[in-house]
Amino acid sequence: MRAQSIHPQPAPDQVFVVGHWYHVPCVFFPYLGYPAQWWPVIGPRHTDERIIGFSDEHFHVDIRFVTKVQRRIMDAYCEHRRDGVHTVFASPIAQRYQWSDFGPPHIPAEVPTIKRKQCKFVFPDYTAIGRWHQPLEDAYECAKMTNGICPHQGAPLYGLEVRDGVVTCPLHGLRWSLSTGELVRRTLRTEVHQRCDGELQ
Ligand code: FES
Repeated sequence: MRAQSIHPQPAPDQVFVVGHWYHVPCVFFPYLGYPAQWWPVIGPRHTDERIIGFSDEHFHVDIRFVTKVQRRIMDAYCEHRRDGVHTVFASPIAQRYQWSDFGPPHIPAEVPTIKRKQCKFVFPDYTAIGRWHQPLEDAYECAKMTNGICPHQGAPLYGLEVRDGVVTCPLHGLRWSLSTGELVRRTLRTEVHQRCDGELQ
């Protein structure tokens, strides 16, 4: 069998190439009630209790590297949730989450295992707006994205498509300007708003 060459992780201004093989962090998990298997993940294990109100520790699936079977599992999940493909990107791999608690008790390892995975497609833009987006944008209004890391939960923003100079974090959808590092809002500010210099507007 011909050896598959592994490509280095893309630079901040490049995207993962469909068809190429990469080293990708994975967790072994019985996701959505299916037998445990290796799921590619993006970003650190975290909770979203503050602002989003989701207290279970979880990872997010890196949809770029799922297998065809895993993609079918996730598509069925989206259909079930009835809110479209964007749910895929917000889908947590957690122990007690209502869509994930069918399998035997298991918490993914704190440090995922690196596996060889083929990039199947690029991350589509995360266009759905969840109930958490406005409070999340309010909270991160004055934050800055530096070194390609989202300041919310530390998700790596390398290898993602950039549109009009803006990159969208695939975990919870915050958008960041690549040139300034500043937040690019997509919801209206709440009425009473703290300016970044601490003054009330
Ligand atoms: S990690 Fe939450 S929006 Fe980036």
